[in-house]
Amino acid sequence: MGKRHIRIAELLQEAPGQSVVAKGWVRTKRGNKNIAFIALNDGSTINNIQVVCEVANFPEELMKSITTGACLAVTGDLVESMGSGQKVEIQAKEIVVYGTADSETYPLQKKGHSMEFLREIGHLRPRTNTFGAVLRIRHAMAFAIHKFFNDKGFVYLHTPLITASDAEGAGAMFQVTTMDLDNLPRTEEGKIDYKEDFFGKRTSLTVSGQLEGELGAMALGNIYTFGPTFRAENSNTPRHLAEFWMIEPEMAFYEIEDNMDLAEEFIKYLVQYALDNCMDDLTFLNNMIDKELISRLQSVVGTEFVRLTYTEGVKILEASGEKFDYPVAWGIDLQSEHERYLVEKHFGKPVILTDYPKDIKAFYMKQNEDGKTVRAMDVLFPKIGEIIGGSQREESYEKLTNRIKELDMDDTNLWWYVDTRRFGTAPHSGFGLGFERLLLFVTGMANIRDVIPFPRTPKTAEF
Ligand code: 4AD
Ligand code: MG
Repeated sequence: MGKRHIRIAELLQEAPGQSVVAKGWVRTKRGNKNIAFIALNDGSTINNIQVVCEVANFPEELMKSITTGACLAVTGDLVESMGSGQKVEIQAKEIVVYGTADSETYPLQKKGHSMEFLREIGHLRPRTNTFGAVLRIRHAMAFAIHKFFNDKGFVYLHTPLITASDAEGAGAMFQVTTMDLDNLPRTEEGKIDYKEDFFGKRTSLTVSGQLEGELGAMALGNIYTFGPTFRAENSNTPRHLAEFWMIEPEMAFYEIEDNMDLAEEFIKYLVQYALDNCMDDLTFLNNMIDKELISRLQSVVGTEFVRLTYTEGVKILEASGEKFDYPVAWGIDLQSEHERYLVEKHFGKPVILTDYPKDIKAFYMKQNEDGKTVRAMDVLFPKIGEIIGGSQREESYEKLTNRIKELDMDDTNLWWYVDTRRFGTAPHSGFGLGFERLLLFVTGMANIRDVIPFPRTPKTAEF
């Protein structure tokens, strides 16, 4: 029988009675003078393979060097396991220690660690059960997103990360420059001379790929983007990152109802994909992090989202008698506490709110006949609040350019955007799903810093 190195996920499914090689990191070692049980994990699954060693068969020094965190290659026989919890285990014949992990200094000892502590060791936390599960689910969701759109014939459009326009009109962008900040080139009036900068103009990291996405939709029909976006807002909350990933589909000929249908179908598809493909990891997270996780996921796939207007939503909030930190009145930008009240307390299911006041939404949203509201839609989720933001877009050249003027926006870098309304304009719609907000929902994790491998937030850019 030849030796085969198989990943532990597959190894655990193999039939006993063969010689195998397993490689991975030691999670725990226990036992006594005669026998040692090593739980080995290689990241392919939440489950460990148990390695059983007759201590007498191995040099003492080698056995001592096998501690939590060490990396091993184990050759042995795959046998039926007597213990509960696993079908097979490895009877070790030969062990090579690739790398030791000194038990005095290796920070991931067996005891449970706080999420705060694990953030400080972001270079090692992927080796924990929780982060292994989260990162595998993150991968599965990324794959499912591409599958969903590919199956529907959407084109994956790569929009730029460096941009001279500010899509959301909200400021809060990270500037990109190669200029020497200690010695800035100046114009005659003493202003910074951006002609001297790398792109010959002032540029930033994008807050959204939408505007370029619309160019794609006006040519290819249905497109989506999926990439990193950047926001320099100083919001230190469990739902905000300075660098997050967003999925932005944009569809020609979609009105807002079609947009809502797609958003609802999309999220349900992703949650169902997780239930179908990530059950081991979900079960772990359900046991360790959030006891209602799986039932919440199941309930979302099986329920029809509520649809109502912002104005109706505000009426419900005003009539609720609830004491909110931010008082409710028509015209305010809803806070997460308001969104969660509607979703969790009032309706008990996801809500799609539409037709927001135009003054709290971006310039590009389609204006309603009332002159006060725009055809916006936010999808609100339990535990999260806003998970999706989108709208039907204003397709009228006149209305769009008037709104840009009204808002006193600098339109020098938007000429190409308004051109879509000059040449063959069409009704169209789109939305943005925050990838990490989706992952908060799907994993049950409480803080957005813990669903991205290396979070970027105010004052933290480690790793
Ligand atoms: O509502 P937002 O700002 O909408 C847009 O950017 C539009 N251009 C989308 C579109 O219509 N194509 O952001 C969309 C989503 C939010 O609903 C939220 O899920 C997420 O992106 N998001 C954030 N996620 C993490 N950290 C932040 N700072 C986020 N800001 C927005
Ligand atoms: Mg929004």
